[in-house]
Amino acid sequence: MSYALSQIDLQHFGIVTAKAFVSNSLAWRDVHARARRDGVKLLMLRIPAEHLELAREVQHENAELMDVLCYFEHGLTESSDFITDCPLGGLLIRRAKEQDVMPAREVVRSIFFEYPNHYRNDPRLDRHDVDEVYPSWAETIIKSAEACVLLAENEGKPVGISAVVPVDTGGFDVALFGIHPDLAGQGLGDVLLRRSMQWTWTHGGTRLTYSTQLSNLPARRMLTRHGFLPTHDVLTFHLWL
Ligand SMILES: CC(C)(COP(=O)(O)OP(=O)(O)OC[C@H]1O[C@@H](n2cnc3c(N)ncnc32)[C@H](O)[C@@H]1OP(=O)(O)O)[C@@H](O)C(=O)NCCC(=O)NCCS
Repeated sequence: MSYALSQIDLQHFGIVTAKAFVSNSLAWRDVHARARRDGVKLLMLRIPAEHLELAREVQHENAELMDVLCYFEHGLTESSDFITDCPLGGLLIRRAKEQDVMPAREVVRSIFFEYPNHYRNDPRLDRHDVDEVYPSWAETIIKSAEACVLLAENEGKPVGISAVVPVDTGGFDVALFGIHPDLAGQGLGDVLLRRSMQWTWTHGGTRLTYSTQLSNLPARRMLTRHGFLPTHDVLTFHLWL
């Protein structure tokens, strides 16, 4: 079980928000009581997808299903193939620097405009505030010392981003990934993903994880094409208190 107030969501939405992960009824009741005690207005609750009985229990308390996250993992080895043909001659992939924050925010805003994550699927959250979640996430990651943010540039303009961050359990996670919609479907995602795998391997990582929405078929197809395997799925509920 985990439970924490979310400062970042408080800043974005001006609402006292908590995030929790529970997998049994006792933990859920504990989280529910703590959220009430803390004056939480919005509780974002994650439950393993196989715990349907628990899902019904939280729905009984008016929690609403906002998305389903699918988790994938790739075990990297010396023989992994990190190189793939690049469809665009003018494409450059390089590490983002602090001065890339503003252009990176812009490309991330375009990539994730109206992206159906759990924030957007909640009609009670302000649309404009929701659109700022990913750009501000990109800024935070670029400024963090331990993340590797790769920017894909075409003719000098950012067209894609991949942020690889170390995780507590060892290995690395792709925390943010996308290609500008004008250039989607041309194989750039393939190139950027391979480069992210390569970066992970050359920095001692043998495991790269990636999570995306069940509804994101292009991302899931891209991952399976590159040998990522599904590990588990998680339901996201919002409970307004
Ligand atoms: C999901 C996403 C990253 C995929 O990136 P992409 O660059 O479009 O991916 P690719 O081009 O590598 O692959 C997408 C499709 O284009 C096809 N494709 C690849 N190279 C191609 C080419 N040269 N010409 C035409 N089509 C091509 C692929 O075969 C694939 O189709 P398929 O899945 O039907 O087999 C991108 O669509 C995106 O950024 N979406 C919004 C944000 C997002 O969903 N982020 C990830 C989850 S958090």
